[in-house]
Amino acid sequence: MGLVSGACFAKFGNNVICVDIDKGKIEKINNSISPIYEDGLENLLLKYKDNIKATDDYSYAINNTEITFICVGTPSESDGGIDISYVKEVTIKIAEILKEKNDWHLVVVKSTVIPGTTRDIVLPLLEKHSGKNVGKDFGLAMNPEFLREGIAVEDFLRPDRIVIGTYSDKSKEILRGLYKNFSCPLFETSLSAAEMIKYASNCFLATKISFINEIGNFCKKLDIDSYEVADGMGLDNRIGRAFLDSGIGWGGSCFPKDLHALISWSKKEKEEAKIIESVIRVNDLQPLILIELLKKHIPNLNGKTIGLLGLAFKPDTDDIRESRAIPIIRKLLEDGAEIKAYDPKAMENFEKLYPQIEYCTSAEEVLNSDAVLIATKWEEFKKLDYKEKIVIDGRRLKEAEFAKIYEGVCW
Ligand SMILES: NC(=O)c1ccc[n+]([C@@H]2O[C@H](COP(=O)([O-])OP(=O)(O)OC[C@H]3O[C@@H](n4cnc5c(N)ncnc54)[C@H](O)[C@@H]3O)[C@@H](O)[C@H]2O)c1
Repeated sequence: MGLVSGACFAKFGNNVICVDIDKGKIEKINNSISPIYEDGLENLLLKYKDNIKATDDYSYAINNTEITFICVGTPSESDGGIDISYVKEVTIKIAEILKEKNDWHLVVVKSTVIPGTTRDIVLPLLEKHSGKNVGKDFGLAMNPEFLREGIAVEDFLRPDRIVIGTYSDKSKEILRGLYKNFSCPLFETSLSAAEMIKYASNCFLATKISFINEIGNFCKKLDIDSYEVADGMGLDNRIGRAFLDSGIGWGGSCFPKDLHALISWSKKEKEEAKIIESVIRVNDLQPLILIELLKKHIPNLNGKTIGLLGLAFKPDTDDIRESRAIPIIRKLLEDGAEIKAYDPKAMENFEKLYPQIEYCTSAEEVLNSDAVLIATKWEEFKKLDYKEKIVIDGRRLKEAEFAKIYEGVCW
């Protein structure tokens, strides 16, 4: 998220200095090589190389810039809460340099943090370790990021809205200037509301998916096509068609982390997260419906070969975090099935998790099995010939409908 933001800010003519502790990443960025795969990112690094540098020297970066964005990771802890130790660590480092810096400087939290973190943790740490006062000597803002992995550059450059929570008018003015080239609304709010907007947005999108999956499960029983229902619902402007594709549920690094983080906070605060907990429950059960449907056609999976198309949590990424393929494989193995799997990008990552299953060299090879399950909607799966197969589809791959036996999870 930090590098995508930096590269995009450089595109708008800003001079960007990226700070990281990973020397490998620094070297790559300074050679205009992207350390991660994101469409368009390397082009930006190359095209704007005069505007973007990377270093591990905090002092150099802070003394040669006016704004510092905190973009470090906020990973999940075992209880579902988030680990903000990286945020705290960099806040202290920034404060120690601000102590010696004469010019006014703006600190912006961009990492996803639980509402209240910027005001109650970052602000006091900055004041304590700099010996200066927020508002007067330096500025503070919270600017959540809504980009999606895989299309991060596009999302950053063309957002629906930019949210800035600020402490003082000067901070607001500076961020208005930084984002002046963006045509979307700039929504100005408080530090904590900005943090909550990020969590509420992700929780709502996950809710929309779990909701349509529940309706989809009802539709399946009633022999109704849930996609027709979604199309009909989506025409209502109050509802909208986006995120109403029923299937085997959501995964990835953001939705699960953010929903669990808010639940963990709510438990500590004794404020029950009734809806969000249900959203997760639906999502946990949804991939297993694929196996139930499979058992309608092959009641005993012991010794059967089951093909699995797709391992990444969504197409166009190699990310397998919380992929719906994981609970599917776990259940198939429990039932004694042999698994043949294929994914265009995610097999290497998956093999570390499940070395015991067979990884095929092509999607066609997966078809050489007793039944095929579709877990990720990769473009190349559309071209397969499913005619002679039993196909249980978790992602609405229209082209698979011509299979000998075809079952959609919610249609
Ligand atoms: N990835 C996304 O799509 C996305 C989207 C929106 C928001 N976010 C949020 O952005 C934050 C970062 O996510 P990410 O996916 O970019 O994480 P990441 O792990 O890919 O990147 C974090 C970077 O911070 C560096 N780092 C760690 N400690 C440091 C330190 N002390 N000083 C300097 N650098 C340090 C790491 O080396 C790493 O390069 C998280 O809070 C995440 O929830 C991510």
